[in-house]
Amino acid sequence: MKKEILIVANWKMYGTKKEGIKLISKIKTGLNNLYINGLTIILCPPFTFLEKAKELIEGTRIQLGAQNCHFLPCGAYTGEVSPRMLADYCQYVIIGHSERRRYFSETDQLVNKKIKAALEAGLRPIVCLGEKEKGNKRRKDKEVLDQAEFAITHLDHSKMAQLVFAYEPVWAIGTGNEADPSYVNRMSQLIKESLPLDVPVLYGGSIEPDNVEGFLKQEMIDGVLIGGASLQASRFLKIIQKARKYVS
Ligand code: PGA
Repeated sequence: MKKEILIVANWKMYGTKKEGIKLISKIKTGLNNLYINGLTIILCPPFTFLEKAKELIEGTRIQLGAQNCHFLPCGAYTGEVSPRMLADYCQYVIIGHSERRRYFSETDQLVNKKIKAALEAGLRPIVCLGEKEKGNKRRKDKEVLDQAEFAITHLDHSKMAQLVFAYEPVWAIGTGNEADPSYVNRMSQLIKESLPLDVPVLYGGSIEPDNVEGFLKQEMIDGVLIGGASLQASRFLKIIQKARKYVS
């Protein structure tokens, strides 16, 4: 049993505003009978319907997050969105997702800058880390722990409690090949042990209603970050339904 479980929906680059409104409305209705204390539900829509999402979730316990942010509060950076702007709409921001690291060449240094900027703006960063490939255990551990160490470099201790980590082995994302829960438990423990404060560590990678319990049962896993299965209200709500029994 856990005091708190975080369930994060990452909608990536999916959905028009109209589709987003439909999805949020279904989730909102479904959550009416499902919500219990200790469950934190965070929806991360695309920037384009964050404002509408904020309006729709008003009066509910749903929280909002963005999927990315710039590392400065403002400036001449055409096309970018700063954490200060996002703070008008959300409480969280995903930083360093493997898709950003891979397709937009985000480095550990950049991730660290974004974390600092997000904290400065009052947002809670959901920091993604994970090894790229299956393989040598020692190498994988080092890859993940280096990412964790970079993430917190020169971070004010007082702010560290705001962090959430999401362990997402890249090979498990969007592939239908979720990692083994006991393996994730060990990685989460390693990540927690490498940090000066106790922060939540989530798991992400092909989470579905029929595999989520295996992860939530584990002592070191504090929740899940869900891509594909969060784009369908019925699948997402089933996951929440299953998560309920692991909250004390
Ligand atoms: P997935 O995505 O659930 O579709 O594997 C997870 C993620 O990208 O965070």
